[in-house]
Amino acid sequence: MNAKVLLVGSGAREHALAAALARSKSRPSIFAWMKQRNPGIAALADEVRVNDNYHDVIGFARDCEVGLAIIGPEGPLRYGLADALTMLGIPTVGPTQRLALIETEKSYARILLERYRISGNPKFMVFTTISGVRKYIEENEPVVLKPNGLTGGKGVVVQGEHFSSMTEALAICRQILIKHQAMVIEEKLQGEEFSLQCFCDGTTIIPCPPVQDHKRRLVGDHGLNTGSMGSYTSANHLLPFLKYRELQQATDIVRRTIQALQLETGEPYRGIIYGGFMLTAQGVKLIEFNARFGDPEAINVLALLRTDFLDICRRIACREKYGGLNQLDIRFRGLATVVKYVVPVNYGLPKEQWVATVSDLLQIGDLGKAALYYSSVHSDQAGLHLTKSRAVAVLGMAPELSEAEGIAERAACAIIGAVDHRSDIGTAELIARRVQHMKELRRQ
Ligand SMILES: Nc1ncnc2c1ncn2[C@@H]1O[C@H](COP(=O)(O)OP(=O)(O)O)[C@@H](O)[C@H]1O
Ligand SMILES: [Mg+2]
Repeated sequence: MNAKVLLVGSGAREHALAAALARSKSRPSIFAWMKQRNPGIAALADEVRVNDNYHDVIGFARDCEVGLAIIGPEGPLRYGLADALTMLGIPTVGPTQRLALIETEKSYARILLERYRISGNPKFMVFTTISGVRKYIEENEPVVLKPNGLTGGKGVVVQGEHFSSMTEALAICRQILIKHQAMVIEEKLQGEEFSLQCFCDGTTIIPCPPVQDHKRRLVGDHGLNTGSMGSYTSANHLLPFLKYRELQQATDIVRRTIQALQLETGEPYRGIIYGGFMLTAQGVKLIEFNARFGDPEAINVLALLRTDFLDICRRIACREKYGGLNQLDIRFRGLATVVKYVVPVNYGLPKEQWVATVSDLLQIGDLGKAALYYSSVHSDQAGLHLTKSRAVAVLGMAPELSEAEGIAERAACAIIGAVDHRSDIGTAELIARRVQHMKELRRQ
C-alpha cells in the first residue's frame, strides 16, 4: 500500500512540498489540510480538508490513517500540532511547541546562543516594560526593534529605514509591548542577508543550498517589508557575495544551536531549521531562526532536490525506524533558481498609495519553461480571483542565473490582472549591487 502523508498548510511553500512528495518514487497519497483551498495542492492531493481550526487536523489525520505528517507553516508549530500528532503515534516533520520557541520567541534564540556561547548574536537586550528602553537605544543606536512573537514577517522595525527619532522609537516600543508583552532591541547589522534551510533528524543537519530572499515590496529594495517578494539560488550552491568559508560558519551556528536545543529541552529537533543570516564585515551574524521552510525559499531548494523527498521526511520524523539522514546521500541539482511572487497591486503598500482596481480576476498566460506555485487565490466558475495576500509564485531554473531570471520574469509578466511583481529579483544589475555592497563593507 502507498504511504499516506498528511500535509498541513495552504501556501506556495506547501504547494512546493506537495510537488516534491508527488515526485517520490514511492508515490505517496497526500492528505492536505489547509486553511484556504490551494488549487495547486488540491490537484496533487488524494483528499483535501479546508478548515481554520488546528484542532481539526488531529481528527483528519486519524480518519485518514496517515503514517507521516509534514507541517509547513509556523502557526501550527506554535499551537503544538507536532506534539499532538506525535502523541497519536504519527511521525512528524516539524518540531514540538517547546523546540519551536527558537522561532516563536525571538528572545529565546538570542538567549540560547548567549548561554551556549554560540557565535552570531548581535548586541541585544530583552525588554518587558518601557523602563530602560530610551537609555539602551541612546547607547546602541542604530538599533532594530523586534516584537518577541510571530508577526508574519511584518513586525520588525529598523532605525534609519522605518523610524528615525527617539519619540517614534518609544511610541513603537510601547505599541509592541502592549501587543507582545516582550521585545528584543538589538544592534543594527550591515551586510547582505541569506537564508540557510537545513533538514534535521534530531542529530544530523543537512543544509540545502543558501538562498537570498527579497522582503521589500518594491524594485530596488524600497517600500515596506512583506512576507517576501522572491528569492534566488546560484548554480554553485553559494551566493555571489558569499564564500564557502562563510557558509560553513552559518552551518556551524545551526548545528551548534540544534545541539544546544537538545541539551536545553531533552528533545530531539525533527524538522526543518532555517537560519536567517547577515553576512557582515565582522563575519556571519544571526538575524533569526525559523522552525520551518521559508515561503518562497522552499520553492528554490525543493526544485533542486534530487534525493527522494519522502525518504528524507521519513528519516527526519523517525530515524529510529528509517535510519538517520547521515545514511542518505542528499543531492541538489547544480542549477540556478529564481522565484518571483506575483502579488495584488496594492499588496504591501501604504493605504495612501493604493490604486483603484476594477477586477480581481487573475489570468495565467503562457508560462514557458517556468513552474507555477499557487499561494493565496480562490477559484469559482468565473475563474481565479486575487485575495489580499500574495497570489502565485513562478520559478525559473537554468544553468545560469540570468537565464533562470529570464524564465521567471517572462512567466511573471504572463500573469494578467491587477497584479505586480519585482522585476529586479535575480537580475545581473541587482546582484552586482549586492556584491559591490559587500565589497565596500569588507574594505571599511
Ligand atoms: N539586527 C538586525 N540588523 C539589521 N537588520 C535586521 C536585524 N534584524 C532584523 N533585520 C531586518 O529585519 C528583517 C526581519 O527581521 P527578522 O528577525 O527576520 O524577523 P521576521 O522575519 O520575524 O519579521 C530581516 O530580514 C532584516 O532585513
Ligand atoms: Mg525573517
